[in-house]
Amino acid sequence: MAEQRQRIIVEGGRRLEGEIPIQGAKNSVLPLLAATVLCKGQAVLHNCPRLSDADAAFRILDCLGCRCSREMSVISVDASQMSNNQVPDQLMQEMRSSIVFLGAILGRCGCCRWSTPGGCELGARPIDYHLEAFKQMGVEVENDCGFMNCTAPRGIQGAKISLPFPSVGATENIILAAVTANGKTEIHNAAKEPEIVDLSNFLNKCGAKIAGAGGSSVVIDGVKELSGAEHTVIPDRIVTATYMCCAAITRGELLLTKTKLDDLSPVLPLFDKMGCSVYTYDKDRIYVNARKALRSPGKIVTHVHPGFPTDSQPLLMALTTVLPGTTIFEENIFECRFKHAGELNRLGAKINVRERIAVVEGVEKLSGASVKATDLRGGAALVTAGLACEGVTKISNIFHIDRGYESIEEVLRGIGANIKRK
Ligand code: EPZ
Repeated sequence: MAEQRQRIIVEGGRRLEGEIPIQGAKNSVLPLLAATVLCKGQAVLHNCPRLSDADAAFRILDCLGCRCSREMSVISVDASQMSNNQVPDQLMQEMRSSIVFLGAILGRCGCCRWSTPGGCELGARPIDYHLEAFKQMGVEVENDCGFMNCTAPRGIQGAKISLPFPSVGATENIILAAVTANGKTEIHNAAKEPEIVDLSNFLNKCGAKIAGAGGSSVVIDGVKELSGAEHTVIPDRIVTATYMCCAAITRGELLLTKTKLDDLSPVLPLFDKMGCSVYTYDKDRIYVNARKALRSPGKIVTHVHPGFPTDSQPLLMALTTVLPGTTIFEENIFECRFKHAGELNRLGAKINVRERIAVVEGVEKLSGASVKATDLRGGAALVTAGLACEGVTKISNIFHIDRGYESIEEVLRGIGANIKRK
């Protein structure tokens, strides 16, 4: 397909200056779209980003028999006539995070049939925590030649669930299955990411009874049914960090608007530590100035929220490749989330990877080359590095990037980058 062969071509050396309004969060809009399946009325979601992952979720809703429409950044979904409880295999494989539809379909229909999502570039991505929790909620899971048949003969039952790890997807899936379950569900060791709070806020607007989202214990009292509601998707905290790295690597200055400062506490202090001037105001605006000489922030360790987010690790790695000093990255969330290091080294970076540790020796300069996006955030890291390369960098497999960034080349061209898609 022509799109698959498209590349992003960037000529480095331009200082970025200007203003970027931040898009809605990919990792919030996906569970929110899944949650509309539970609504017996129309749901309207504002600030939905234009992403291939959001398009895939939209197609899933359509296949389930929901009436969906999109006007610019507003998606409306009426699931009252939902007629199907099976996510098409091809869509499950296209977007592994469609697993979050499982909890919503179980919550709405009490049964569903789906093909297990594959792993991805970041590792095996198992779903054992999800399945274990559903079994505790009275769901019987039967493997039928690669398809999973889930049934709940006695309906979905509330349960007391302790997660072995605060998995974002598992927390979301349990909440989605629990909101219309019989009785109370408690989730202990729940994920605390902002996207969990956004999902809980939307569901409570629809009549759900969820308490404690954003903390390590979440309690859901099952209700009979949910109405629709209007909701605005929270800003994307990873995209915010991405464009801050783009400004910093070009020694530029950038105003980011429509973001959410509360969700950036794990990341903002790092930019100060590197020597950027960062001013925040009005809860949703960040001004970053990187004209001064920057330095390595030392060590970056990924943790679950409110620790440093794994999704921002590739972007900070790209930036630190040209900062004087040695930066050590410790990746504690995914087993192989350093694939972008090899591609950054093709641009002249000096990165050594050993299991979950990557050591970055800052270099004077990077040189443009042809590189391949390995995954969503790894691809964005190559764009970030390309902005600082001498010469031209050509990035292929950019479909990875389009999963999570709205027109990344147009956004960057709007603040002075010499970048195009071809
Ligand atoms: C969500 O993935 C995000 N995706 C990821 O963002 C993000 O990196 C991740 O949370 C961590 O914050 C979406 O929200 C769509 P997890 P998720 O379940 O839910 C292991 C991006 O770039 N695990 O918290 O899949 C798992 O293998 C993407 O936007 C199990 O072992 O993440 C991983 O090592 C990448 N068994 C760890 O837990 C399970 O049943 C964290 O996974 C589930 C997870």
